[in-house]
Amino acid sequence: MKIIIINGPNLNLLGKREPHIYGRQSFEEYFLKLQEDYPHIILHYFQSNSEGKIIDKLHEVGFSYDGVILNAGAYTHTSIAIADAIAAIRTPVIEVHISNVYEREAFRHHSYLSPVCQGLVVGLGLKGYELAIRFFLE
Ligand code: DQA
Repeated sequence: MKIIIINGPNLNLLGKREPHIYGRQSFEEYFLKLQEDYPHIILHYFQSNSEGKIIDKLHEVGFSYDGVILNAGAYTHTSIAIADAIAAIRTPVIEVHISNVYEREAFRHHSYLSPVCQGLVVGLGLKGYELAIRFFLE
């Protein structure tokens, strides 16, 4: 089983960025724990602040991995190009948001990505990434 977590813009600042919304843990720290807890799967992590690099990564993994867990950050609400990339690949994608975007500003309520993703995990903090892994495992 080969799964990749892809995080988009500003998610490299997890732990420092608006901790009242996104918590105090860095993603690197959380990811190490995930690798410890799921030693039997190949779990990769990629983060980029650039839309094109996220699309390139989706193309690279999208015909050989078993699952993609994608938090595209603010590109969720703007990027038809990332939606097209998800539609173009074979690997199923689960969209994750750490915060509950539906209790936040109206511009966060629309996702270009949801219609082409297999499912969503929203508002459950970093735990959402693990829940997505467990879905792929089952
Ligand atoms: C986010 C929600 C987005 O609206 C925001 O732009 C992010 C993070 C989340 O994980 O809650 O960068 O995707």
